Amino acid sequence: MSLRLTRRSFHRLTVCGAALIGSHALWPLARADEPADVPWVSNDPHLSGNFLPVQREVDARDLRVISGRIPADLRGVYMRNGPNPEFKPIGYAYPLDGDGMIHAVYIESGKAHYRNRFVTTESLTVERRAGRAVFGSFTHPVPVDAGVFLPGEVPSQLKNGAFVNIIRHGGRLIALNEATTSYEMSVQLDTLGEWTAGGSEPLRLGAHNRHHPRTGDLYALEYSWRTPTVKFHRINASGVLVNTRSVELPMPTMIHDFILTEHYVVLIAGPAVFDAQAAKAGQSMLQWRPDLGMRIALLPLDGGDPIWIEGEPFFVFHFANGFERGRQIVVDYVQHDKFALVNGPIPTFKRMTIDPARRNFKVAGFSNEITEFPRFNHLREALPTRFVYMPTLTSSLKEVNPPPAVFNTVLKLDTETGRYTRHDLGNQIVGEAAFVPKPGGRTEDDGYLAAFTYDPVRQGSNLVLLDARCIEEPPVAVIEMPQRVPQGLHGNWISRT
Ligand SMILES: [Fe+2]
Repeated sequence: MSLRLTRRSFHRLTVCGAALIGSHALWPLARADEPADVPWVSNDPHLSGNFLPVQREVDARDLRVISGRIPADLRGVYMRNGPNPEFKPIGYAYPLDGDGMIHAVYIESGKAHYRNRFVTTESLTVERRAGRAVFGSFTHPVPVDAGVFLPGEVPSQLKNGAFVNIIRHGGRLIALNEATTSYEMSVQLDTLGEWTAGGSEPLRLGAHNRHHPRTGDLYALEYSWRTPTVKFHRINASGVLVNTRSVELPMPTMIHDFILTEHYVVLIAGPAVFDAQAAKAGQSMLQWRPDLGMRIALLPLDGGDPIWIEGEPFFVFHFANGFERGRQIVVDYVQHDKFALVNGPIPTFKRMTIDPARRNFKVAGFSNEITEFPRFNHLREALPTRFVYMPTLTSSLKEVNPPPAVFNTVLKLDTETGRYTRHDLGNQIVGEAAFVPKPGGRTEDDGYLAAFTYDPVRQGSNLVLLDARCIEEPPVAVIEMPQRVPQGLHGNWISRT
C-alpha cells in the first residue's frame, strides 16, 4: 500500500488521534515526491556532508535489518533531535543555530518503523511565511524586521529552533532549545505548542535537565543572555512547576548542562559570557573571559544557601552523571580547556570530586582521547554509576580533517578501573549513543546503545544497536534508515514497556 498526501492533509490526519505504533492505517507515507535534501548548499562544514539538512518528512514501515536482530521484547521509540535549518541561514554557529528536526525509530515486536518531522516552532513558522531565513545566528544576531511577525506573535531577535534535545517528563515529550521556551511534541511528532509546565506562560528551559532519583522531579536550568541570573526550576513528576531558585553570576553566562545529585544541584559555570557590546562591534556575542575564573555553586535541595567554590577556568558543554559518595560529590564530564566553537582544544573526559565542607575540588583524567556527548544509564541518574558511553574519533575514518563533532567509534568507560572498551565503526560517522535499558535488566549496563551512523560512501544512514555490556561485539542489530539522517545532537529512548 502506498499513499501520498500533502503536508497539510497529512498533518490533519495525524493530529486526528490515530496512534502511530501499531496503526497500519498510517503506513507507509514516504514523501517520495520531494527531494530529500534542502535545495541549497553552504561552505560551512557544519552545513555540508552529513551536516546538510534534510527537508523531506518521511514515514517508513518495517525497516530492513541489515545484520543482527531487533530484540523482540524491546518496545519504545528512539527519538533524536538536531539542528536542521530549513532555509539557508544568514549566519550559522554549530551547535547553537538551526531548526529542530526529530528522527524517530519506533520499535516493537522485533520490527522498526521510521518517521521524521520538523519542530514547527513560531520562529520556523515566521521564516516559512517569509520564504527565507530572517533570524541571524545565536553568536551574531541581526536586526529582525518587526513586520515579519503577525499580531499575537512575540517579536524576537533570536531564533528558537527547539533543536537540541528531546526528553520525556510528566507523560509529555518536550523538544528543548537553549535558554528559551520549549515545545511539546506528540509521539507522532506533531508539534503541540510551547510547554507551560502547568502554568499560563511558556517556561524557559535549557537543553539539559535532570530527574531526581527519589521524587521523579525534573530539575531544569534557565539562563539568559541578557542577565547574570541563573534559575533552577523544580517541576514535579506530573509535569507541574513547583518552585524556582536563582543564583547570580558576574555576567550573563552560557550554561549548557548541570548536575543533580541526591541532595544538591551542582552548577559549574565556566566564563563563556554574553557580551552585547562585542556583538554590536561585529564580534561573537559569546566571549571567553578566563579572567572571570570558574564558579561552582552547590545548591542544597532542602533550600539552604548555595556553597560557592572558585577555580581555574574551563568549559563544560556536557556532563555524564553526578552523585554523592560519602560527603563528597563526584561529577563526570567532558572538559574543554576553553570555550571555542572552532579551533578549540581537544575535549577529554574527566572526573571532578568536590568536597563541600572544604570548599575545594580535584580533577582526574581518564585518557586524552577526544570525546563529547557522554551518556550513561539514565535510570540511575544522580545515583552512583560506573559506566559512561561516549564517541571518539580514530584514524579508521577516512575523512581528512573532519569538523568538530564528527566521531566514528563508541567508547565504554569503566570509571572504577579506568578501562575502556570500544566499537570502532571504521569509515562510518557516529554521534551520541543513547542508553536503552533492557526490559527487566538487573545490572547498570544491562541494556543497549542506540546511535545513528552515516556511511559517506553510500551516503546513507543506519540505526545501530550495541549491547552495552560488551560494545566491542558485533552490533545486536543494524537497521537501515529510509533516508540520510543528518548528524544531530541529543536523543533519548522513550520506553513503552
Ligand atoms: Fe547538549
